[in-house]
Amino acid sequence: MNNVNQVLRIGDIIQDDVFTAGKVLLLKKGTVITQPLLYGLERFDCDFNSIDIIVEREGVVSQVAGMAAPQTDNEPAAQQDESIVFSDKLKHDAVEAARQLFAADANIREVSETAVSISNDIANNIILAGSDARLCIQDLRVTDEYTYQHSVDVGVLAAQLAKSLGMPPKWISEAAQAGVLHDIGKRRVPPEILNKPGKLTDEEFQIMKLHPVFAEEDLHLIRGISEAAKAGAYEHHEKLDGTGYPRGLKGSGISRIAQILAIADVYDALTSKRVYKPGMSSARAVNIMMGMIGGFNRDYFVAFLKSLILYPTGSRVLGTDGRSYVVYKQNPQSPMQPFLLDELSGNIIDVSQSGADQVTIFGEDCEEMRLKWQEGRNK
Ligand SMILES: [Fe+2]
Repeated sequence: MNNVNQVLRIGDIIQDDVFTAGKVLLLKKGTVITQPLLYGLERFDCDFNSIDIIVEREGVVSQVAGMAAPQTDNEPAAQQDESIVFSDKLKHDAVEAARQLFAADANIREVSETAVSISNDIANNIILAGSDARLCIQDLRVTDEYTYQHSVDVGVLAAQLAKSLGMPPKWISEAAQAGVLHDIGKRRVPPEILNKPGKLTDEEFQIMKLHPVFAEEDLHLIRGISEAAKAGAYEHHEKLDGTGYPRGLKGSGISRIAQILAIADVYDALTSKRVYKPGMSSARAVNIMMGMIGGFNRDYFVAFLKSLILYPTGSRVLGTDGRSYVVYKQNPQSPMQPFLLDELSGNIIDVSQSGADQVTIFGEDCEEMRLKWQEGRNK
């Protein structure tokens, strides 16, 4: 392991191009250091102490050759963010396992063994992470092949929500398994419907809506699959207000695991990139889900929010003052109010402490939102 973590911290802005000892350009001037970037830099066989890196932190330009810049008492320690880390091997193995689950020639009994194996790996990763560790779902994604990645994502999100609800390890494992298998009934949906890039016709949608029923039929007699996974696959499209399918169940008539899966499923679908739409930011997906709250278990939804990283460290957000900020550090007490870095002044802003006349987060930084803000201001 090299020494990058002693030299660079999340939120640092590189003030000069940085080259390796072999004169290969490693970081361009202006790069903001993010958690994924730190992971990437760890893999370089490079002595960072031998490179002069100039960083700007809190407006103070400090030359850090072999030493970290000073940290003030008020400055949050950015490197203490606790997010759940998934190894590249786990991420790729999980997607490959999901691919096997959906292979047309896969025997349903092999499906069961594969699902149990990968679910246990996912659950162990979640269980062994710190009790306050939160999940950034974007860190998990390794493919745009929706069906496979979605199965893995929902397994991870369901396990994380079960943990956030204080459920025991056995339940967390079953939640992971239920998530991985929740859409297994789609194996029997014709590929031209399943993979259709545009909107489904009414008839196609009715066929798609049969996938929970197909799952119930296929998983019913398979030994080794938990009852939770079977119930979850059958009921994950049911809604607490009775508007779901296939049976239109209401309230406590829906199993707890299906109530967990419903939240994980919708969140992942909204934030995933599809052929016909870009992936939505976590914060915007949560806003949309709040408008659908009648269908979800409210307590579970609150626990879900607490278990996620909604504004990934290093991402850009738009403040209510119309300015752009970099997310500097998570706030464990308030997931929707992370610490922000003002790149112009170098100040770190604690959004949870800011008054009405100070900056609060408006949303993810994009041109559309900036223009809306400008329009509102000009009225
Ligand atoms: Fe589904």
